[in-house]
Amino acid sequence: MLIRDELAGDGPAISQLVTEAMLMLAQSTGTEAGIVEKLRADDALALSLVAEDDGVIVGYLAASAATIGTEDGWGLIGPLAVLPSRHRQRIGTALMAEAIGRLRANSRGAVLVGDPGYYSRFKFRTFPSLRLAGVPPQFVQALPFDGTEPRGELIHHPAFGLNQAG
Ligand SMILES: CC(C)(COP(=O)(O)OP(=O)(O)OC[C@H]1O[C@@H](n2cnc3c(N)ncnc32)[C@H](O)[C@@H]1OP(=O)(O)O)[C@@H](O)C(=O)NCCC(=O)NCCS
Repeated sequence: MLIRDELAGDGPAISQLVTEAMLMLAQSTGTEAGIVEKLRADDALALSLVAEDDGVIVGYLAASAATIGTEDGWGLIGPLAVLPSRHRQRIGTALMAEAIGRLRANSRGAVLVGDPGYYSRFKFRTFPSLRLAGVPPQFVQALPFDGTEPRGELIHHPAFGLNQAG
């Protein structure tokens, strides 16, 4: 399996994969593929990583710039999606490891909104003053690279507000 950057022409396969993977997630908004498409259209994909096996895209991870409180320089990971038939084969872990390694080179830290049961294995955790309006605090997690405590509201790309905008 190969982890690589998105190439021209991968977009439709990525959207299909993200849609299919998110069907399994109870809290899915059904807009995740649209978020990726909007980030791409706005040239806001800081990372757009695919996991490819035998020429087939089996996993995907996006990252985009975010601000926490008054501090910019955070990398927001999401969405992360793995083809349902390929779950528990370490594809998500490989995508996360690559993303964290890349973000470490140019970001203050990584931040995401997701299941702590999964992301705690990558050392993501909650912080008392890290928050995102409308999201229960246990799902808003960060991994500071320099030990700085993230303080304040997470501000991410407007594409993530697609569900609120209808
Ligand atoms: C979450 C997801 C990306 C994990 O991908 P994956 O390639 O199956 O993950 P890995 O094989 O690297 O899993 C590593 C471990 O995490 C566990 N795990 C997977 N999802 C988990 C969850 N939601 N909560 C707790 N543990 C989870 C696996 O069981 C595995 O455990 P093991 O080491 O004991 O076998 C994948 O299940 C997926 O696409 N789900 C639907 C979309 C989604 O939930 N995206 C994340 C949004 S927050």
